[in-house]
Amino acid sequence: MDVYGLIGNPVEHSLSPPMHEAAYEARSLDARYVTLEADPERIAAAVEGADALGVAGLNVTVPFKQEVLPYVDPTPTAEAVGAVNTITFDEAGGDGESGDAGDGDDRPEGHNTDVEGVVRAFEHHDVEIAGNSAVVVGAGGAGRAATYALADAGAEVFVANRTVERAEALADDFAGLGVNESQRLSFANQNASRSGDVEAGGLDALDQRLSEADLLVNATSVGMGDPDTSPVPAELLHGDLAVLDAVYSPLRTKLLRDAGRAGAETVDGAWMLLFQGVAAFERWTGVDAPVAAMNEALRDRL
Ligand code: ATR
Repeated sequence: MDVYGLIGNPVEHSLSPPMHEAAYEARSLDARYVTLEADPERIAAAVEGADALGVAGLNVTVPFKQEVLPYVDPTPTAEAVGAVNTITFDEAGGDGESGDAGDGDDRPEGHNTDVEGVVRAFEHHDVEIAGNSAVVVGAGGAGRAATYALADAGAEVFVANRTVERAEALADDFAGLGVNESQRLSFANQNASRSGDVEAGGLDALDQRLSEADLLVNATSVGMGDPDTSPVPAELLHGDLAVLDAVYSPLRTKLLRDAGRAGAETVDGAWMLLFQGVAAFERWTGVDAPVAAMNEALRDRL
């Protein structure tokens, strides 16, 4: 039997166990998925211990996504985002996107499938990313993953954050990502700091930026556990937008309800959660994920 696990703190309310176990069942895999509340002082030991025990793969969640970096070989994506949410301990199911150039290093491989979660959530809803203009609200871990995902997939991204300096630092980190000359020129006369195809500013820039945007991602915690607050004023939403809310509890956030009313396409946070899990499952097992079964298991619990 293969054992997979989630390390984080806290982890007891995670939806990953039912989602992954539904996948094992649908694919007749002899595997289990357990939550492991790691000791924050002993993250290196936790990763090494899992490896030594023959754990087949780990997911990593808050607050350890950055902390595990020194103990894994990050893929280029995980390295660029600065966070790991999926660890593979063996070659099975490897996708070749390895940061390890065959240097004999036997550290496990660290992936970031949150990035894939964002891209695949939009793709699943037939939303085009490449060549489009995106606004990401929030510059924490979720904002970093969403910004990287969209810029890497060919969108122009504006990151808006309450704390402007944090958005600017994020844009600086991703300077030049997939940039081309026409994108540079299109930014030339706009009043914001500029770093390749990722720009940054405060929430006051949302008014202008959203009027021209095709995609919007809420990567703040605003709306989490609260059906009546939204990070974006309803009057700024319009029918040409596709709106992804990383918040999945509640599933129909105020932002998504407002967006729906404005005629926008809406993508709830469970799709992001689903597709980061789908990508992790496929890395670990090398088997096509049973997306419908995983989605059903997830939504049954939301
Ligand atoms: P995560 O890793 O999940 O992204 P985080 O690093 O704590 O979590 O980031 C939370 C994000 O939500 C930040 O962008 C934060 O803005 P600041 O950087 O200004 O703190 C944003 N956020 C949280 N509460 C907010 C609020 N009431 N209004 C606007 N933004 C808020």
